[in-house]
Amino acid sequence: MSSLRVCVIYGGWSSERDVSIASAWKVRPYLDELPHEFVEIELSQDRKWIQVTEHERKHVDPLRFLQDIDVALLLLHGVGGEDGVIQGFLETVGVPYTGPGVAASSIFMDKILTKHQFMALGINTPEYFTVTGAEAQDRAYLAQLWTEKAARWEQGLVVKPARGGSSFGVSVVDSEHDYVEAVNEASRYDDRILVERFITGVEVQVGLIGSSAAPETLPTLELVFNDGQSWFDPDTKYGSDRSRVSFRMPADVPNHATTYMRDVALKLYSHYGFEGYGRLDFLVPDSGLPLALEVNTITGMTPTSTFPLMAEKHGLAYGELINRLIELARSREEKVA
Ligand SMILES: Nc1ncnc2c1ncn2[C@@H]1O[C@H](COP(=O)(O)OP(=O)(O)O)[C@@H](O)[C@H]1O
Ligand SMILES: [Mg+2]
Repeated sequence: MSSLRVCVIYGGWSSERDVSIASAWKVRPYLDELPHEFVEIELSQDRKWIQVTEHERKHVDPLRFLQDIDVALLLLHGVGGEDGVIQGFLETVGVPYTGPGVAASSIFMDKILTKHQFMALGINTPEYFTVTGAEAQDRAYLAQLWTEKAARWEQGLVVKPARGGSSFGVSVVDSEHDYVEAVNEASRYDDRILVERFITGVEVQVGLIGSSAAPETLPTLELVFNDGQSWFDPDTKYGSDRSRVSFRMPADVPNHATTYMRDVALKLYSHYGFEGYGRLDFLVPDSGLPLALEVNTITGMTPTSTFPLMAEKHGLAYGELINRLIELARSREEKVA
């Protein structure tokens, strides 16, 4: 592959802005070793494009700036970055980008829309109900939902903003009082909220890489919590104590569970025209089928993030992975005229 001018885009205005910036910082030294020219854009909280170089930060006009860019390497997370918005903009100006396209990004950024897809395709997923921001203020209605549904979920429940990420705004609770608080907390992040049955099980990630027509499955990765946590809370994800979680590859789950998760991942990848890469997360209970939790269209991409670790296990060293994603972005064919 000849040398390309690649624009790394990070930052943005979602709740995951800082996570994205931290990723870009970690990724930067590795890019120097690749055969491309990398330039950096930080999207500001007020949606400006800031070119970042070693010496300065300057506002640029995105349309002009993108004219001589061959590929955009997206390290954005959350609303505005992972939800089809930047993808649509880049499509409009004809700049190829890493990761899935507009439709898959929009659908899977939203945990409620994701549930609808799981249900439509018959994919096993935890029971749930949804609450709007207005309903979140209605104590009587929340109490009714508790009595009709959540009170029967013995292990408790998980409350999530529909378009959150990085576990922000997510709560695991087991009393009616805490559930009301959690719904209120989640409504600070989004005005649509998902309330899900808590599933006790092993958390497993399935990564895919490649074109929609020919994806490769990466080795499954199991999250092993070493500190008695029952879920991947923000502290475990981003806290300074990295020993709270470790990763086992491949996941230590029965073969039938691995087969099910891989089949689901491949089905989604082809059904929704994923291009580049994608990651699905599951919970595998002691008995019965795995349950699909979410689909990530832009995953953590630092060398110690789970997706690059799965790729490494598959034989793709970090630099090769980034190169491969750039190559996949470039080779994406426009199939709809
Ligand atoms: N239904 C559930 N049962 C048990 N744990 C869950 C459930 N849903 C989410 N979790 C835990 O919460 C974490 C964050 O939830 P997730 O749906 O992945 O949202 P995010 O987009 O914030 O990563 C998961 O990694 C998992 O550990
Ligand atoms: Mg998650």
